[in-house]
Amino acid sequence: MLRRGVFFWHRDLDLILDDWASGRGLFLYTGRASSLGMHIGHLIPFMLARWFQEKFAVNVYIEITDDEKFLRNPEYTLEETAMWAYDNIFDIIAVGFDPDKTFIFQDTEYIRNIYPLVIKIAKKVNFSEVSATFGLRPSINIGAIFYPAIQLAPTMFEHRRCLIPAGIDQDPYWRLQRDIAGSLGYHKAAQIHSKFLPPLTGPEGKMSSSIPESAVYLSDNPKTVERKVMRHAFSGGQPTVELQRKLGANLEIDVPYQWLYYFLEEDDSKIKRLGEDYASGRILTGEVKQLLVEKLNSFLEQNRDRRENARELVDVFKYNGALAKRM
Ligand code: TYM
Repeated sequence: MLRRGVFFWHRDLDLILDDWASGRGLFLYTGRASSLGMHIGHLIPFMLARWFQEKFAVNVYIEITDDEKFLRNPEYTLEETAMWAYDNIFDIIAVGFDPDKTFIFQDTEYIRNIYPLVIKIAKKVNFSEVSATFGLRPSINIGAIFYPAIQLAPTMFEHRRCLIPAGIDQDPYWRLQRDIAGSLGYHKAAQIHSKFLPPLTGPEGKMSSSIPESAVYLSDNPKTVERKVMRHAFSGGQPTVELQRKLGANLEIDVPYQWLYYFLEEDDSKIKRLGEDYASGRILTGEVKQLLVEKLNSFLEQNRDRRENARELVDVFKYNGALAKRM
């Protein structure tokens, strides 16, 4: 994903690498606003965080913001968002984090431990900064105004520099963090951001739980995956075989190709050849969709197996004494 430019943007990654090379160290932080089921796009920052953890051998803090999800969605109850948090944590553990160096915490449970830090942050940020940064309207509930202080807190869990792998939509939080971190005696957090995996149904917009065919969920079974891809995946190929052979596909708008390109086809030479063959008309949309179905189903199957093992590990990750004590 780094080589292919899926993670396309960073801030201060050079300082992070310097800190690592000089032995000052660093830590990683990422998170998830719990909802009913995670789709494959949600896993992208976690996959990079896990890879960095392995390469750097550093701590990872993972915040599950059941509070954020509750505050931002009028229709959800706190009981629901807390229950989804429990479920989402299995999928996150299944990514393969190191149990000795990873701490996963759910805001509504853990807040008492971080509240002193949260209010120090809250006192540094004023209403007009938050409302301008997030475009909040005056009718917004006051919980949503306060919430950013909670998402910033983990960037200050250690005095080392923090690197945050995340989707690009999270950037507003980090801009606030960088304004105030120095005044509280912490480093400005560094970020590496990914593009958004496009919805299956078209190259624009976001995957949405209200349009189930727009996303592939980690819980989708092989038949559902096949149906979604074959029926709903947006193709940049031509409408007839003759035209496809003559004109080839437009890869820029072809979602099956994009999904393979993001991470599902791991072999660089294979994805290159696939792109050339598809763009020149040597292969057809049906073949690319078939490959996507196979890759998705094997990815999801591995995830399901690891998720089963994750159940036993929840307590290790959620109550990681060594890391929790430090705050
Ligand atoms: P949430 O739950 O919306 O998303 C979790 C992470 O997944 C990223 N993401 C995507 N990445 C690629 N393609 C997609 N289609 C896609 N959809 C979502 C998000 O950018 C995010 O990184 N406020 C956060 C929760 C949070 C957090 C954090 C995230 C708390 N602390 C620290 C990152 C880092 C949220 O609503 O994430």
